[in-house]
Amino acid sequence: MELLWFFKDVGLALAILVFLGVIKIVYRLWILPNMAYQKLTRSGLSGPSPSFPLGNIDDMVKSKTKRIQSDSSSSLLGIISHDIHSKVFPYFAQWQESHGKVFTYWLGTEPFLYIADPAFLKKMSLGVLGKSWGKPSVFRNDRKPMFGNGLVMVEGDDWVRHRHVITPAFSPANLKAMGSLMIETTNEMLDRWTSLIHSGHQEIDVEREIISTAGEIIAKTSFGMSYENGKKVLEKLRAMQQTLFNSNRYVGVPFSKFMYPKQYLEAKRLGNEIDVLLLSIINDRIKSKDTESGAQKNLLGLMLADNCVDGRLVNSLTTRELVDECKTFFFGGHETTALTLSWTLLLLAMHPEWQNQLREEIRQVVGDEVVDATKLAGLKKMGWVMSEVLRLYPSAPNVQRQAKDDIRVDEVTIPKGTNMWIDVVAMNHDPGLWGDTVHDFRPERFEADMHGGCNQKMGYVPFGFGGRMCVGRNLATMEYKIVLALILTRFSFSLSPSYCHSPAIMLSLRPTQGMQLIVKPLEK
Ligand code: HEM
Repeated sequence: MELLWFFKDVGLALAILVFLGVIKIVYRLWILPNMAYQKLTRSGLSGPSPSFPLGNIDDMVKSKTKRIQSDSSSSLLGIISHDIHSKVFPYFAQWQESHGKVFTYWLGTEPFLYIADPAFLKKMSLGVLGKSWGKPSVFRNDRKPMFGNGLVMVEGDDWVRHRHVITPAFSPANLKAMGSLMIETTNEMLDRWTSLIHSGHQEIDVEREIISTAGEIIAKTSFGMSYENGKKVLEKLRAMQQTLFNSNRYVGVPFSKFMYPKQYLEAKRLGNEIDVLLLSIINDRIKSKDTESGAQKNLLGLMLADNCVDGRLVNSLTTRELVDECKTFFFGGHETTALTLSWTLLLLAMHPEWQNQLREEIRQVVGDEVVDATKLAGLKKMGWVMSEVLRLYPSAPNVQRQAKDDIRVDEVTIPKGTNMWIDVVAMNHDPGLWGDTVHDFRPERFEADMHGGCNQKMGYVPFGFGGRMCVGRNLATMEYKIVLALILTRFSFSLSPSYCHSPAIMLSLRPTQGMQLIVKPLEK
């Protein structure tokens, strides 16, 4: 009898637990997001109608598939258009037509606020401190194997602590010290190009070449790593990027990782393998005790110098955080810069007059000497070209935020917890902001104005905005100028007939079918 009562009690307790679990799930996945959504719609914002549990993902996938089909016919005709917004974000371009430049949409059960209006962006970010901006939890979880809790994802007081440790690594003196390694690594790539050309290969996939060189540069300059170790980390990061971003995984849909167990486990495996590699590099560096002397003024050396006393880690960053920062910098520190350089070579191949102008500028500023960090500020036209490339092909195509408090923008209340997607590509290609020449390559628009004549300052934010602006922007500019100056002084280049214009988003904005150029050595 007692046994029967016992089972009845256990059964009842289990039923209550299951019931409470279901209530919790419904509250988190249905009630809470809907409350936030209602607040946004009550403020007058509209958007495409979502369905449960996919939100608007189905429409996004369909729109992308349709776009890819129509693109393949235009690429067969060899047409290169810089009007890329409807190509890379076809669903946003379509929704803009019905809902304007600020609207709501859903990734699974996660409501998002889409923003492509610089005036709204300006009001929204006014007075919000870097530490008060969060990052959408849905992306923080999804990209954990890639960035962990590194600077790109970390929030609140932890973000302040990380940024405080990392910022000094980008001081002008430290950047200058990285110059010679950049030159050496780039020259190795260019020597390889010369050998390839001499052996009859005039066509080079410059994107593949530059990505690998930029990876080597970050491995050496930021971590003092050997080429072999750097290559291992980069190969695994690349494989992870393919796993996470080369397919439609229903991010934001509850339990979606169980729908794609293979990709989920693969990303996790690669993440763990990278962690082990980085951890051994960190431990070796701690043991070698050359962290406190300041001899290693690279990023890892500086992070450790702040952390390491008598060969032990103290305060500031934990070992786990150090590993996450290394991963963040490995990936963030090479891909964006390399892509900006690759898009630049495409645009210069299409505009040989700009190749000549830049060569002339290099001749005047650098002369016959080796380019070095002190001369880079004089390469003004190259700076305009970089800005124009970042406008037409922004390697970081969007910025994401999560509101940590209610934010008011005129009549609109953005409730605490709202995810935001700021569409950089849309703003950079908006004729309302840039005029009729918006899709043309015109570096001179940056001659007199660092915002390129955009009629709203917040309309041009290639490195982000506010306290969370890109910490590596000066390093990126320096590397860009050094690598481009070296390429331009040794080679000329034009488009290869096999080049197929196929920009697409894989976290960053990439030429998905490579960037084949015909490269020729310059006559001395
Ligand atoms: C052309 C090259 C680059 C572009 C276009 C770029 C763009 C961006 C953008 C748009 C953001 C987001 C800012 C925001 O949320 O407001 C960002 C953040 C960041 N970038 Fe870059 N970046 C570049 C190069 C680099 C390099 C070379 C490094 C490191 C060596 C780097 C490290 C970071 C980090 C750590 C953050 C997070 C900053 C924070 O949240 O405090 N980036 N970058």
